[in-house]
Amino acid sequence: MLAQIKDLAANLAPRLIEIRRHLHSHPELSGQEYQTAAYVAGVLSSCGLQVAEGVGKVGVIGELRGQGNDSRLLAIRTDMDALPIQERTGLPFGSRQPGVMHACGHDVHATVGLGTAMVLSQLGAALPGSIRFLFQPAEETAQGAAWMVQDGAMEGVTGILSVHVFPSIPAGVIGIRYGALTAAADDLEITILGESGHGARPHEAIDAIWIASQVITALQQAISRTQNPLRPVVLTIGQINGGRAPNVIAEQVKLLGTVRSLHPETSASLPSWIEQIVAGVCQIYGARYEFNYRHGTPSVQNDTAMTHLLETAAAEAWGDRGIQMLHEPSLGAEDFSIYLQHAPGSMFRLGVGFKDRHNYPLHHPQFAVDEAAIITGVVTLAYAAYRYWQTAPKHPSH
Ligand code: NI
Repeated sequence: MLAQIKDLAANLAPRLIEIRRHLHSHPELSGQEYQTAAYVAGVLSSCGLQVAEGVGKVGVIGELRGQGNDSRLLAIRTDMDALPIQERTGLPFGSRQPGVMHACGHDVHATVGLGTAMVLSQLGAALPGSIRFLFQPAEETAQGAAWMVQDGAMEGVTGILSVHVFPSIPAGVIGIRYGALTAAADDLEITILGESGHGARPHEAIDAIWIASQVITALQQAISRTQNPLRPVVLTIGQINGGRAPNVIAEQVKLLGTVRSLHPETSASLPSWIEQIVAGVCQIYGARYEFNYRHGTPSVQNDTAMTHLLETAAAEAWGDRGIQMLHEPSLGAEDFSIYLQHAPGSMFRLGVGFKDRHNYPLHHPQFAVDEAAIITGVVTLAYAAYRYWQTAPKHPSH
């Protein structure tokens, strides 16, 4: 089966590069992927998939029905949006949209998703179960996954796979990681409420600026003394506003920040932990406070069985040298985690780096990919999808 999948993918290579270059030269911003979605839907229909458009506002779903009697449903998720960046790659198929660029490789993701659909649709009777392809909008703004789920994209799904390009891994190599792949990214807003007064008579006032500085210091010190150092927490206050005049004691200071963490239990405990420190410091000096904590995108936690599926499929397809085990997660965020609240899944890193020239990072105006990676991605996903039905089904608990 692997040889057949590799053959099918190799035959599709010129068509896939054409698709990728079309998508690359026609980038669209998050939530506005109308042309991209229509194009994706067209390709899916031409392979005989059942297509639904306008899922999750601008998203597309393509369903490939298996011929066998395995009731499990595997989802393969890719994204389609570009970034507000002026492209400077100088490529002949560069962006035709001023100020918009596929600088995060989502053009490659969508192409890999389409290529996988093309390959698997040609396997026909060999597929014992069904596969649902999710093409989501608005990943960069961390909205698209939630929109897709709201519209029922995960109904009946028993497992999900996804992919993200990675320029620091060479093309032809797959990056695999068990457990935490990306961080939870939360928003923090603290207002310290003191009492105004004359700058010369601090004892008659409650100085919100001084208390805010104590709160910031206490939080940073508490991270190092009360959080498990093996479960990292990054708390950054990026904005601070307060005070009216040099000789007037400020009555109010607002602190705005971002909080990153990798472990779900840590993430869940952060709001009350932070508030306790704020409350403690304010109480010592007689201030009041307002506290708002918003959980944003959760951490991507790659499921063990689904990651093992990717690892064994990639190992069979490319050998040990085609796999790089990733020792570190990223403190960036990725809304694939929203799907993982509904089914176990795993995301792998697709190496797109050139071996013989400088590789610019993601979100850089000169970011470029070695297109050989497209076939690596398609074969890996298609073969992992095929192997999904060779694994024992997990019986739902009653
Ligand atoms: Ni991205």
